[in-house]
This record gives sequence, structure tokens and C-alpha cells, in this order.
Amino acid sequence: KQLVGLVGWRGMVGSVLMDRMQAEGDFALIEPVFFSTSNAGGKAPAMATVHTQLKDANDIAELSKCDIIITCQGGDYTKEVFPQIRAAGWNGHWIDAASSLRMQDDAVIVLDPVNDALIQRKLAAGGKNWIGGNCTNSILLMGLSGLFNAGLVEWVSSMTYQAASGGGANHMRELLKGMGVVHAAVADELATPASAILEIDRKVAQTIRSDVPTEFFGAPLAGGLIPWIDAQLDNGQSKEEWKGQAEVNKILGTDATIPVDGLCVRIGAMRCHSLALTLKLNKDLPLAEIEALIKGGNDWVKWVPNERAVTVQELTPAAVTGGLEVAVGRVRKLNMGPEYVSAFVIGDQLLWGAAEPLRRMLRILLA
Ligand code: HSE
Repeated sequence: KQLVGLVGWRGMVGSVLMDRMQAEGDFALIEPVFFSTSNAGGKAPAMATVHTQLKDANDIAELSKCDIIITCQGGDYTKEVFPQIRAAGWNGHWIDAASSLRMQDDAVIVLDPVNDALIQRKLAAGGKNWIGGNCTNSILLMGLSGLFNAGLVEWVSSMTYQAASGGGANHMRELLKGMGVVHAAVADELATPASAILEIDRKVAQTIRSDVPTEFFGAPLAGGLIPWIDAQLDNGQSKEEWKGQAEVNKILGTDATIPVDGLCVRIGAMRCHSLALTLKLNKDLPLAEIEALIKGGNDWVKWVPNERAVTVQELTPAAVTGGLEVAVGRVRKLNMGPEYVSAFVIGDQLLWGAAEPLRRMLRILLA
């Protein structure tokens, strides 16, 4: 069995990865070695049968014994350790959730239901660096791979509604605390049906401005939204917005760049990212054909007909959270012309957006 080093398995993405690997029986196929940045020598999780002690995640010699390393430890760890282990001559496979290496020439952004052919080509050519994509882009492509892989997309405007989990565990906690603070400020009035709604609203506005915690998001999210995600670039895009075109095209391995752009917005959902899309197709296709292509894109597409009753039940974070299906709905032709199509795509940010492509890449390497 191949020796597979696991780093950052205790964090949020790492924990989702561990759950998924257990659910799919991945541990039976590997010899896991658990690494820790803080607790080397401690007891490894029960999935480790041979290497039952945690090893030091900064010990290059120990890491180098692994055939494959999967890390969810984060970008700083990657920047620190990856150059060292390669400089030490390690030639194993590095699978990484962090963005640090994504745009390097020798890195493939892995999303095999969409770009298996590219992965196989790079693998055959000796590729060793397999990096998970940005969550929003992975969800976009999982939802619409049928249209992209048929070469039908001329450009995409992608307006996002991104969940708190994209920031991390602390951000999810901050959202929930904020919700509680807002509710507590008006709990008495809410319990009294006769209370004046504008008085409640005044108190809520005041509470959001001054009492909702903002340590992690930098602005109140509960009861509102934040129309900026990640760093500011010189061209006016946020870094999250920049990743759209850069990563989508790298994942697809396209020759001609497909323009992808839009605004990325943080909303008060827990772990489902949504995207409201305008697609310009390079053909006037009948809606039935568009529907068939989207449905046939991959096994995880959940088609939601563009009807009110089913949309409000099934095309929501409440319906999609915690599952592997990526829901696609609101597909219709727009007033701009017959090649202009809308779509709303929604997926669990921690699954296809983070953990799932990594464990599937492991399976590809083990095959
Ligand atoms: N950058 C994303 C977000 C998550 O903040 O929602 C990671 O892909």
C-alpha cells in the first residue's frame, strides 16, 4: 500500500475530507501517516494502523517517506514546506487544498468530473502537483460542465452569493453570534405581536451597526451582506473575482480564454455557495438542448426545473447543504437575445468546493 501523508486533517476542510475518505473506504486502500504541526508524538486517529503516532508536519525527512501527501493545512504551510521538500529531492505526489501553487505551470487544478482528460494527460507527462480549485469556480464548473465541455460558452458573468464557511470556521461562528445578537436586541418586542415593526427595525439597524461582532469578516454579516471577498487588486477586482477567469480556464485547459467576470458577495449562508450566472452561448440553442447538456454534464448535477414551487424548495442552501449534488436551475433565455441564458448554480462549498476533488485525485493516483 502507498504511504499517504495527511496534513491539516483536523481543521474544517480536513475534517470534511476525513469524513468523506471514511465514507468512501479510502483508508482501506492506503497506509495513512498523520502529521501535526503542534502535537507530534501524540496519538494518530484510529484509521492509522501502522503509523499510530502523529509525526511532525515540518519534518522534511519524515514527509519525504510518503508516496503521496495531502494537505489542508493552508497556504502558509504550503509556501513554507513545499519548496523545501522538492528541494530535498522528494518526487512524490502533492495534493493541496490551498491556493498557493494553483497557478504554477506544473500544477493542475483538479476537478476530475470536469477535467479528467487534462488530469490524465498531465499524469502521463509526469505531473506531481495536484491542487484543489477555488470553491466558487469548482461549483460553477460542476454545475455547467455540460455547456463548457461542449465548447458552447462564449463568456460568463458570474455574480456570487458566498457562504460564511469560505472564510473559515471562525467566520461561521461569527455569523451565528451576530444572528443571536440581532435577535436578542428585539426578542421582547418580537414576542409581542402588537409591537411596532418600525421600532423593531430601528433597534435592529442600530444593533447591526454597533453590536454585531466583526472581528473576522471586518463588517457585520448577520442581517446583511458584504460585497467584497479577499484582497483588493489594482484593476478594481477582488482577488476572488480575479480567480474566476484564471482558474476556470486553467481547469478547462482551453486554448482561447473564455472571459469570466462578475462580483463576489458574502452572504449569511453557512456553507453553500451560489452563483447567479449570465451566459453568452456561441449558438442559439433550444432550451431543451441546453437542459439536456447541463443534465448530462456529470453525475452530480441536480436539475431544478425553472418553476417557482420546486425552485424555492430545491435550489436553496437549506436543500443543498451537506450533500454532493450541485443544483442547477433558473435556466431561461434572457431579454438580451437568444444566445443569452441565465442559470443559478448552488453547491456545498466544503465538499465539491474543497475536500471532494482532493480525495478523488488520491483515488486517481491509486488506480
Ligand atoms: N475564497 C473562498 C471564499 C473560499 O472565501 O468563499 C475558498 O475557495
